[in-house]
Amino acid sequence: MHDITAQLEAMRARARLGGGDQRIATQHSKGKLSARERLELLLDEGTFEEWDMFVEHRCADFGMADIRIPGDGVVTGYGMINGRLVFVFSQDFTVFGGALSEAHAEKICKVMDQAMKVGAPVIGLNDSGGARIQEGVASLGGYAEVFQRNVVASGVVPQISLIMGPCAGGAVYSPAMTDFIFMVKDTSYMFVTGPEVVKTVTHEEVSAEDLGGATTHTARSGVADLAFENDVDALLMVRRFFNYLPLNNRQKAPLRRGGDAPDRIDLSLDTLVPDHPSKPYDIKELVVKVVDDGDFFELQPENARNIVIGFGRMEGATVGIVANNPMVLAGCLDIRSSIKAARFVRFCDAFNIPVITFVDVPGFLPGTAQEYGGIIKHGAKLLYAYAECTVPKITVITRKAYGGAYDVMSSKHLRGDVNFAWPNAEIAVMGAKGAVEIIFREDKNDPAKLAAREAEYKARFANPFIAGARGYIDDVIQPHETRKRICRSLVMLRGKTLEDPWRKHGNIPL
Ligand code: HXC
Repeated sequence: MHDITAQLEAMRARARLGGGDQRIATQHSKGKLSARERLELLLDEGTFEEWDMFVEHRCADFGMADIRIPGDGVVTGYGMINGRLVFVFSQDFTVFGGALSEAHAEKICKVMDQAMKVGAPVIGLNDSGGARIQEGVASLGGYAEVFQRNVVASGVVPQISLIMGPCAGGAVYSPAMTDFIFMVKDTSYMFVTGPEVVKTVTHEEVSAEDLGGATTHTARSGVADLAFENDVDALLMVRRFFNYLPLNNRQKAPLRRGGDAPDRIDLSLDTLVPDHPSKPYDIKELVVKVVDDGDFFELQPENARNIVIGFGRMEGATVGIVANNPMVLAGCLDIRSSIKAARFVRFCDAFNIPVITFVDVPGFLPGTAQEYGGIIKHGAKLLYAYAECTVPKITVITRKAYGGAYDVMSSKHLRGDVNFAWPNAEIAVMGAKGAVEIIFREDKNDPAKLAAREAEYKARFANPFIAGARGYIDDVIQPHETRKRICRSLVMLRGKTLEDPWRKHGNIPL
């Protein structure tokens, strides 16, 4: 018995070493933690239950039969984050660059299958060169098995990906199908193929950082939701982020009540919107002043800054916030902002998180760049997302709600549950100047007449009462009472049920 126990301990010690001390030291020298150190930080202390520590690859080609490392480059299992269950996998770059073999894939699939059975999220710590080249189609098959599970789990349990090293091929496509992607600055990269292949195929010379670094994906491509300073920062922030999410699509997000009173008023909001209609202001100030304790977890702050998305809490319950941002492109909707917000609204809808929408939008951004880029289809994504969304939807129009963008931004007509406007809101087909230039074209050479028409149009339409008279706005509220009115609405909506007719699935304009 003693021998067996000693043998077991020796086997465990061997598995824990992964690719060995030297490779772990190299990992540290790059500012990266090892796969196991990462899990220690991510999970509550002492809660990690490891599975499949003794799994080895089955490849005999290219000398692989002689190099078998127990665990095969990925640490898998489950544990707790703030006392709530989560399944995890953490790829070990010290073992074949974290590359995915058939056996490595089976380990990931096992935790994903179990997560689905018990209804718990999956967090993947990715640090991998993709499919293990020595295994050929066996590793490709392994990735496809993971992809299939990513898709079946989508909308059932939350899936979060951390990119913690150079990730290529399947190591980026699997994260791409998860709900959120977080990166680590300076040490993580995401690309379909690395800079060397790019040079061979397209003759472009590009660094790993420019091709797929954190700035590229948070500010340019929009692939990643956030980037953090280092591994420790990233893992601790994911723990915080996890607290906003429910365990699965049949549960609600956990209640985390702070001391913020639901009827707290904020008089500074009464002067937030400038008198001049084209003067910008920071919509994030409104968001922070409305949510519990000013605590707003913003996603994609550097991408499509004309729309703001993220999570907050109202009376302790998670809410998704979507807000046009007049500071950038005057808050216009364009291709990138539509895609950004549409995906977020769909996540909230899938996971029972109410959506609060703050509207100040002069319309869709005009121009050839947008039209050639397909704004019609991409803008329709946001329209579609709001229209199919059945969780509680609360809308507050703070200033402009013009044209198609009025319809899109969670309007009453798209089954908005409670739609408020601030007293200075302007709900119209377009701004007064543009409107009179079209409908009074005959006066275009008479500035005085045109100005009079503009004033007339403004007086008639630049207010919330025409919409209010039709019931498109439930109430015109004072800015300072916004939090109170939203909190009350959310209480009223707690029992909301709304079901659409059966269908296999809709056909969102992709
Ligand atoms: C086997 C791999 C590997 C892989 C890296 N390694 N990627 N082994 N299969 N895919 C090994 C290296 O040989 C090396 O082993 C060790 O991991 C560390 O790699 P380095 O290249 O030294 O590290 P670095 O310079 O940091 O570069 C990391 C990298 C690069 C950018 C990930 O290794 C790379 O470009 N790898 C190939 C990426 C790729 O094309 N993967 C296939 C994708 S196809 P030694 O023993 O020398 O230290 C795919 C299909 C999925 O995934 C389907 C998608 C739809």
